[in-house]
Amino acid sequence: MQWRFADLDDAHELAVLNGELIADEGHRNPMGVQELERRMARWLEGEYRAVLFQTGTEVAAYAVFRDDEQGRVHLRQFYVVRHLRRRGFGHDAFRIFRTAVVPEGKRIVLEVLTANRGALAFWRAMGFTDYAITLERLPGEEPDTT
Ligand SMILES: CC(C)(COP(=O)(O)OP(=O)(O)OC[C@H]1O[C@@H](n2cnc3c(N)ncnc32)[C@H](O)[C@@H]1OP(=O)(O)O)[C@@H](O)C(=O)NCCC(=O)NCCS
Repeated sequence: MQWRFADLDDAHELAVLNGELIADEGHRNPMGVQELERRMARWLEGEYRAVLFQTGTEVAAYAVFRDDEQGRVHLRQFYVVRHLRRRGFGHDAFRIFRTAVVPEGKRIVLEVLTANRGALAFWRAMGFTDYAITLERLPGEEPDTT
């Protein structure tokens, strides 16, 4: 598998993949591809970096990350294209990310939506353990006091 850092010219392709990621993980983000492209371009011009992983000439996976305020690597997005899943591409891409992209000794953190069971299983298989849990209370929802 080959890899390279993405640049601004990749913002459209990344945005399309980002749209697929949002759908697959069941995220509430309502942005369309144009908006995602603008956001991706803004990120790449700012503190985020992205990596594209290719098999032959085809993009198999991508990752978006930044160094956070606590000196950790925050892996914001990680995605393997649908038709290449469960063939070890995610594992390979993450191995490259961890060994060639992230400086040695850095802690990597990421969030997974609770309902995204496949991703949870994947990250646990990659050696991640539970660290924090985000709770939410939606507006208008009253606790059941009965
Ligand atoms: C999660 C994702 C990155 C995994 O990529 P992948 O290329 O399919 O993963 P791999 O084939 O390398 O899997 C490695 C191991 O992870 C685990 N795993 C991966 N996907 C899994 C799933 N859907 N269910 C259970 N275990 C899974 C397995 O242990 C697997 O090993 P095995 O196939 O020998 O059993 C991919 O499914 C994806 O892009 N999903 C949509 C986007 C997403 O949810 N991203 C993560 C957001 S936090």
